[in-house]
Amino acid sequence: MQGDSHRPAAASGAPILELSGVSKSFDSYPHRVVALEGIDLRIDKGEFVTLVGPSGCGKSTLFNIVAGLLDADAGGTVGFGGMSQSARDLLGKVSFMPQRDLLLPWRRVIDNVILPLEVEGMGRAEARKTAAALFPEFGLSGFERHYPHQLSGGMRQRVALMRTFCFERPLVLLDEPFGALDAMTRTLMQRWLLDIWQRHKRTILFITHDVDEAIFLGDRVVVMTARPGCIKLSMDIRLERPRNPRITTSTEFQSVKKALLEAIEEESMKSFLAEK
Ligand SMILES: Nc1ncnc2c1ncn2[C@@H]1O[C@H](COP(=O)(O)OP(=O)(O)OP(=O)(O)O)[C@@H](O)[C@H]1O
Ligand SMILES: [Mg+2]
Repeated sequence: MQGDSHRPAAASGAPILELSGVSKSFDSYPHRVVALEGIDLRIDKGEFVTLVGPSGCGKSTLFNIVAGLLDADAGGTVGFGGMSQSARDLLGKVSFMPQRDLLLPWRRVIDNVILPLEVEGMGRAEARKTAAALFPEFGLSGFERHYPHQLSGGMRQRVALMRTFCFERPLVLLDEPFGALDAMTRTLMQRWLLDIWQRHKRTILFITHDVDEAIFLGDRVVVMTARPGCIKLSMDIRLERPRNPRITTSTEFQSVKKALLEAIEEESMKSFLAEK
């Protein structure tokens, strides 16, 4: 299931991101690491795509390339908004929440949230006013003037997400945003994120290690192979929206999960054996 088959049947048909033959290697000591090899992936406008794969298969590297923070190796192309783009062109075109939340401990919550607006040249007073309107929606009313260390893990994640959404770009990259949360908070955050996604009408590419999360959130789950990472399969998730938490016990959900787990386990085993 390689190449153009990574397109969901139900998609709008207008691509926002098109990766073709994207590879990335690092010349690190003592040996060169080939992180990605020949990634072909298309994401259509408005999709919610979840990305899973063994640890070290290059998921974060892929995000860094799409965000313009890393150059891909020569040969492949990264198409964004219908045009082929270099890393320099891509920088600032997507909203990106990296794997660690990277909140600045010395800045109050509101001043963490407005960072992207300030970087774009908006004055602090106006930026604070713009961001303040988002606090209720992100469940953080009353915490504007707190510092990050005064928040719970789930609240910190919401601050980082709010900052990401504040940077209003059509494509949002979220790298394991709920990875550090307990199961209950995670479930609440998933439902909340789907709600935000539907209201803000963005396109989301979301990395997770949790197959249930990948299925529950996604219009499509994309599985990567063990390193060097390439696309192993792309599976459309045709569960009805809005997603009700009860669907996780449905036969349809369970059969999708079984197929995905088989694919993921095969790759995790390869990755484990390669490291031995
Ligand atoms: N800046 C770098 N320099 C050298 N090697 C790197 C660099 N960044 C990533 N790598 C290597 O590239 C490979 C892929 O790393 P990456 O962080 O993309 O994996 P990942 O799929 O996000 O893993 P995880 O699920 O654990 O977050 C790893 O072998 C890693 O050591
Ligand atoms: Mg990663």
